[in-house]
Amino acid sequence: MQRNIKLKEEHTLRVCENIILIGKSINLDETKLFIAESVALFHDIGRFKQFKKYATFDDRKSENHAALGVKILEDSGVLSCLPTSEQELILKSVEFHNLQKIPAKLKPDILLFSKLLRDADKLDIFGVITEYYVEKDKNPNPALELELADAPTYSHEFIEDILNYRVSKNNLNTHNDMKLFQLTWLFDINFPVTFKCFKDKNYLEKIIKSLPDDETIREVHEHLKDYLDLKKHLKNKN
Ligand SMILES: [Fe+2]
Repeated sequence: MQRNIKLKEEHTLRVCENIILIGKSINLDETKLFIAESVALFHDIGRFKQFKKYATFDDRKSENHAALGVKILEDSGVLSCLPTSEQELILKSVEFHNLQKIPAKLKPDILLFSKLLRDADKLDIFGVITEYYVEKDKNPNPALELELADAPTYSHEFIEDILNYRVSKNNLNTHNDMKLFQLTWLFDINFPVTFKCFKDKNYLEKIIKSLPDDETIREVHEHLKDYLDLKKHLKNKN
């Protein structure tokens, strides 16, 4: 229990650092950086109650941790000293952070902060999982693996999604499915600095190394390397 609570505390602090890094890269002013940091600080608040109540981080087996977080923030009144527009910004960014896609037609500020949070969150999850894949045999943690089968197989639907630049919405059955699914998140990254961090930290190589060494995975590797090279030249447009 304590290990997983600590994991989420540390994750939250790193998401705060990431969101400031990304916010500065697009020249957000001090006030907006402060709101961004608050969004990051509160984004996974539902995780603590979720783990306490259900002993899992799997939303499918418990409840949606983002919706739970919104409820906790509303019930606690912790945001009540802020202007209504800022409360809405924080609540909506928390609510949308784990959706497969950000809803269409959002207010520009809500869209911006949702994108910032989603990038900052994904960047840290990539760090957590790559570190975990390297040392998982020494220190396994079922909560991080969503109790999936540790089989050497993977579903080709994820390969199709990667080769077609789609974020996956397929069902996960094995650890390898989860790794491939997480690689499809690269198609939902919004800011150039996030791509830069992903590249600088060699996350692609680390994830690929933890997958079976076969022709299909090598194709996925080449495809994603090309994609990242292309994204390197992206300019901030948010
Ligand atoms: Fe989350």
